[in-house]
Amino acid sequence: MAKEMRQVITSYILPILLLLLAVETHAHNVTLLLANHPSLSSFNHYLAQTHLADEINQRNTITVCAVDDGAMYDLTSKGYTISTLKNILSLHVLLDYFDARKLHQLPDGSALAATLFQATGAAPENTGFVKITNKRGGNIRFGLNGAGDVSSSFIKSIEQVPYDISIIQISGILLSDTVSAPTPVPAEMNLAEIMSARGRG
Ligand SMILES: *[C@@H]1O[C@H](CO)[C@@H](O)[C@H](O)[C@H]1NC(C)=O
Repeated sequence: MAKEMRQVITSYILPILLLLLAVETHAHNVTLLLANHPSLSSFNHYLAQTHLADEINQRNTITVCAVDDGAMYDLTSKGYTISTLKNILSLHVLLDYFDARKLHQLPDGSALAATLFQATGAAPENTGFVKITNKRGGNIRFGLNGAGDVSSSFIKSIEQVPYDISIIQISGILLSDTVSAPTPVPAEMNLAEIMSARGRG
C-alpha cells in the first residue's frame, strides 16, 4: 500500500507539481503582452534591447509604465547610451501591482512606488522612487521623487495579469538629471581601487 502510494506520487503527482512550478516561473512575457499594441512598439523594442524584458519576466507583482512611439522618439533622439536608456526605462518598472482600479483608489490619493532603478542600487538616495498622485477630477500623475513638477499622466490600462503584472500607458517619459547624467564611477573602477588599496597595505 505504502509502496503503491509512493509510486503514485513519483509517477503522477510529482511531474504535475514540477510542471506547475515551471509554468509559475514563466507566468508572463512582457514582450508578447506588448506585441498586441503597435503604438507601443518602440518601448517594447527598447525593453528587449536593454534586457529589461528579461528582468521584468523574472519578477512578480510589478507595473510597467509604457509610453507611445512619439514619446519614445523624444527620448531616443537625445543620443543616450544604451546603459543610460536602460536606467531611464528601469524607472518605468514599478515594484508593485497597480491597475486602473487601484490607481483610482489610492489611500490618501497618493503612493510612493520603488522602481527597478532603485532596486539595482544605482539610484542615489531615493531618486529611484515614483510618486503617484490622484489629482482632482481623476487625473493621475506620475512623477520622479524629488524631480519637482515634471510629471506624466495615466492614460489607460494596456494589459493585466492580476497581481502578477500590470502594463499601463502614461503620457511621457519620466526623466531626471540624476538618471540621465553619465554614470560617475563604474563598478570596475571601485574594484580596482580596492585591489590597489590592498596591494599598498
Ligand atoms: C518572450 O517572447 C519573445 C518574443 O516571442 C521571445 O523572444 C522570448 O524568448 C520570450 N521570453 C521568455 C522568457 O519566454
